[in-house]
Amino acid sequence: MAACFVSGAQELRLRPDNVDAVVAAMTVDEKVDLVIGCGAGWGNVDAKFPGTAGWTRAIPRLGIPSIYFADGPQGVNMTRFREYDTRDYSCTFFLSGSTLAASWDTEAAEAIGHAVGYELKERGLDVILGPGANLHRNILCGRNQEYFSEDPLLSGKMAAAWIRGAQSNGISTSLKHFAVNNQETNRKENDSRVDARALRELYLKGFEIAVKEGNPGTVMGAYNYVNGVHACENADLLDRLLRQEWGWNGVVMSDWDGVVRQADAVKATCDLIEPGTEADKKALLDALENGSLPMEDLDRNIRHILELVVKSPSYQGYPYHDDIDRESHQRLLRRVAAESCILLRNEGGALPMKPGKVALYGCASYDLVPANMGVNGVNNGVYHVSLVQGLREAGFEVCRPILREYTAYVAAENERIRSAFPPIFAQFYRFDRPAEIIPGQEGGDRLTPEQKAMTVDLGIQMETVNRRWPMEEQAVENDAALITLARTTGEAFDRTASEFGLTTSERNLIETVSSAYHAVGKPVIVLLNVPASLETVSWREKVDAILVVGQPGERAGESIADVLCGAVNPSGHLTDTWPVRYGDAPADSHFPSEAGQDIQTLMTPRKERSGELVSNIDYTEYAEGIYVGYRYFTTTGAEVAYPFGFGLSYTEFVYDAMSVEPTREGFLARVTVRNSGSRPGREVVQLYVSAPKGGLDKPIRELKGFAKTRELAPGESQTLEIPVSTYELASFNAKKSAWQTARGTYTFGAGACSSEIRVFRQAVLPGNAEWKVEKLLLPQH
Ligand code: BGC
Repeated sequence: MAACFVSGAQELRLRPDNVDAVVAAMTVDEKVDLVIGCGAGWGNVDAKFPGTAGWTRAIPRLGIPSIYFADGPQGVNMTRFREYDTRDYSCTFFLSGSTLAASWDTEAAEAIGHAVGYELKERGLDVILGPGANLHRNILCGRNQEYFSEDPLLSGKMAAAWIRGAQSNGISTSLKHFAVNNQETNRKENDSRVDARALRELYLKGFEIAVKEGNPGTVMGAYNYVNGVHACENADLLDRLLRQEWGWNGVVMSDWDGVVRQADAVKATCDLIEPGTEADKKALLDALENGSLPMEDLDRNIRHILELVVKSPSYQGYPYHDDIDRESHQRLLRRVAAESCILLRNEGGALPMKPGKVALYGCASYDLVPANMGVNGVNNGVYHVSLVQGLREAGFEVCRPILREYTAYVAAENERIRSAFPPIFAQFYRFDRPAEIIPGQEGGDRLTPEQKAMTVDLGIQMETVNRRWPMEEQAVENDAALITLARTTGEAFDRTASEFGLTTSERNLIETVSSAYHAVGKPVIVLLNVPASLETVSWREKVDAILVVGQPGERAGESIADVLCGAVNPSGHLTDTWPVRYGDAPADSHFPSEAGQDIQTLMTPRKERSGELVSNIDYTEYAEGIYVGYRYFTTTGAEVAYPFGFGLSYTEFVYDAMSVEPTREGFLARVTVRNSGSRPGREVVQLYVSAPKGGLDKPIRELKGFAKTRELAPGESQTLEIPVSTYELASFNAKKSAWQTARGTYTFGAGACSSEIRVFRQAVLPGNAEWKVEKLLLPQH
């Protein structure tokens, strides 16, 4: 009889119910490979999905596939065109995080998250690297536009909604950058030094809400240190707080090149080291060998990764389509970006405008900044509907001679600016914007010979840009002037204090256009295409209307035109306080506000620089504690340009009724809002709460809830319900390491912004409440 060897061992393949067995079957080499990414997909021709951020190692013998990550949060970032292929792989680039948050609309955030998640899945990927939920501690942080707000509740609620929307597709999100990542200058070395109360109430709160209400599949550790320990190697942060206290159990991945001490990262439950290098592998193998890294720690992290893998579309063999129908996403984006516009000023009802002849001034009118620059800008913002196109489609006639002069000038200037940077850099970042010109005053003569040559190369006839045309005549010829001012920021650099102010050429433009147009009774409207606040007090009275359009994404021109012509009522509200001047907020003196000027020196790692640690560079003291943004300005009564939550509308709303009732969890506020104006529109109700005196020192009021009406026709009303739990009313007592809500009378105020409370109601909390937590992340200085 022939020998018959029947192998009893079934081939072991990863399944949701055999993760432990798979871990046990892995070799040490395989284990180490799995906790280290396979490199980044940027510029990597071997990447399955070019231009994406990374992927995990496949172990075919155990049925473990790679899973793929793409950057967000403004959309799915991957290379638009591939070698040997003529298909367009572009994904929608949506509005920036802070522009989305300006909608104060969690349903919109969920819908946008859903659309991003859908595109990610249909492109064959598994994890979108977003949303970003860091707090806007300082108006100059270079990544504020990726994040939501200076308020942790607004940040957390928007992030949670976005995550729920994205993950409803069966993909995972990566909530980032955990935590206290509030400046870009020296971002990999800077130590954020923050007291326990501010840490809990402000910097961790948004993440806590996003984690508990959104349950992201992954969390990305930040580059910075938190009270002396690197975020990606911080067991207090990643294990004791995120996992044990908040009860979350997903995958923590490091930010790209964010790990310095690999074994410490593994021990701290940073499961995945990204993007992964040979040096990372060697360090882990050495640490296992010399016993400084226990195998159990590695196994635990591998279990986290495998639990993510089995949930992924790649593991499930999802047949993605690649030919994405983006039509409905475009419509969604156009509407949300329009509703997120914030009307700061509207004298004499300058807006909405009747279609007519408009003159567009300001270089950005012809070169909008639709998206965040840097790796998180999808397709690097190269594709968008221009303002000119949007206005034309809405029935406006755009003044042609002015358009021609600007087009020539902007193209030549952008070319000059970009050529100063290496191509990869220039594609990501546009630091400088062309200086403003006064069209018709000097004609093409202002161009240098090189610029003229470029203009000719670009096919633009010099005589069409050379025409002299006094501003007074331009004002007679057109029905209105639109001036667009823009700022560009991106990852790795902060804005400088001087960028907060207007340049001389911008001031000159506003002055010249306004006096000419006002002399003939025509309105001047300013569009602010900005990632964060800008100085407005010195010039706002010179113009009739100011509309903040933020970074509206690829339908920019249409979204803006929808608001200008009144098809959409702007219902956006500021997510930050706009100060009178840089320096007014206490955090301003603890921030590298001019660092951009000396960036080479400042980006040099600490170990390569000699001498003392430099404040705001090597470490940043969060000396203002909990008094960030409106918490400071409303409590002290210090003057602001525009308060947190501010935003006008084309219609008016009255708050007819308000009640606050006790519930099992805390309170339920009901606010009835009526559209008392003459146009349809939506209203955001912001619920601020003032705590009873006697307990911990608190800001005069804090945002504890918000809700947005549907579109209300004139005369129509809606009752909004806003729950506030006792836990949400708590402050953090650092000495006792406990969240505490003191008994007493709470004042609930419903308002349209932080300084305009329309209706108040009081409600009594009969007993004290306390939630003790472990003492962790304590300041070392
Ligand atoms: C950024 C992250 C990003 C990662 C991967 C890092 O430079 O800080 O936000 O997700 O790169 O692209």
